[in-house]
Amino acid sequence: MSRYRIEGGRRLVGEVTIGGAKNAAVAVIPAVVLSDGPCRIENIPNISDIFVSFDILKALGAQVRMINKTTVEIDPRTICSHVVPHELARNMRASYYFLGSLLGKFGTAKVSLPGGCNFGVRPIDQHLKGFTALGASVPAMIENGMIEATATQLIGNSIYLDVVSVGATINIMLAAVKARGITILENAAKEPHIVDVANFLNAMGADIRGAGTDVIKICGVPHLHGTTYSIIPDQIEAGTFMAIAAATHGDLLIKNVIPKHLESISAKLTEMGAQVEEIDDMVRVTMDGPIKHCNVKTMPHPGFPTDMQPQIAVLLALSDGTSIVTDTVWENRFRYVDELRRMGAQAQVNGKVAVFEGVPMLTGAPVKAYDLRAGAAMVIAGLAAQGITEIDDVHYIERGYEYFIEKLRAVGAEIRRVEIPSPFARRA
Ligand code: EPU
Repeated sequence: MSRYRIEGGRRLVGEVTIGGAKNAAVAVIPAVVLSDGPCRIENIPNISDIFVSFDILKALGAQVRMINKTTVEIDPRTICSHVVPHELARNMRASYYFLGSLLGKFGTAKVSLPGGCNFGVRPIDQHLKGFTALGASVPAMIENGMIEATATQLIGNSIYLDVVSVGATINIMLAAVKARGITILENAAKEPHIVDVANFLNAMGADIRGAGTDVIKICGVPHLHGTTYSIIPDQIEAGTFMAIAAATHGDLLIKNVIPKHLESISAKLTEMGAQVEEIDDMVRVTMDGPIKHCNVKTMPHPGFPTDMQPQIAVLLALSDGTSIVTDTVWENRFRYVDELRRMGAQAQVNGKVAVFEGVPMLTGAPVKAYDLRAGAAMVIAGLAAQGITEIDDVHYIERGYEYFIEKLRAVGAEIRRVEIPSPFARRA
């Protein structure tokens, strides 16, 4: 077991380079299954969710070879299984993308119900509705924790999503890309990673138009070929470092970003008193004065991302007044607030709404990471707080932030990873 130990209260100054987008990479890697030839994927983030994706591919029979730290070559031609077992699927929410890609390629897929971060009910009914509309048969009952989808021939159809879902939008694209005929997906999600996955599929020979709008048109093609593709930079990793710059009253130049993807985050930070400067593929964030209170409501893209909600809330906990945070996407993403309270934050949660009364200072405390972004929020709180913060359950953080400790230390943070003996370890 590991924990992070942070000595807070330092102003962070310097440069940080952002890695590839987790939520794009966890979909692009399963999408390689659809190819008839090897694919080379660049700008792969060095995070545990990616290693799980590779393990799943290997379990299916694919060849996976790291060319260097950020480039992988995947040859799907040796895939001989269509089953993603529980031991692998339980470690990663995005394992559900193998349902769409295996179904799209082989007409059959069996995937254990996905694991991942737990912040409320995470249904996949819209994914299954899409597969069914394409002509797949999906049993009404889940058996032995496995979801199975089969089809003799997938056929394009019109599909209207009842909720705007990132996962369903991508999964339906994966299943429809080789279907016979045209699929029109309405009320689709518009996140940057949706566009990235569509671009990757198109680079393999797919015919997908409209990704990034709420209507996506997919003309099925019989074959997809191997390609080389570079994943976009991670919007949320960049946003997290922007919040870190502001929370530590620091000055960070954040490199390898797409500023357009950061607009909603930049706008909020500016409202809170930070200076945000866009310079080509970089963004510089500085914070001099007090943090101004404001309200934040998460929305599907291009709204403020739910995956930045806990990190921005740390700033509001340190602001000069009362702020209301509403998460309209997830029903239970405020569990981290209890941990912030242990550090001196004043906040109340009622369902999907949290109210923060800003305090002048947080103090270090032992806390835990409840999920990936909650864990990132704890790191930000620890960096801003006076004294020592120890964060448990950091495996959640390492699902989505590459070289987090190294990147933070390089800009002046005092943060270390400490190995702690498991309480269940047998004594020698
Ligand atoms: N929903 C349904 N039915 C479905 C699918 C979703 O009701 O079939 C609901 C969900 O319960 C939720 C809302 O729709 O209330 C949005 O869920 P969505 O499907 O968009 O989420 P997801 O695809 O499971 C991805 C990201 C999450 C991010 C959300 C929202 C990946 C692997 N995960 O999840 O990222 O919070 O979109 O933007 O792409 C993270 O990176 O920390 C993370 C949790």
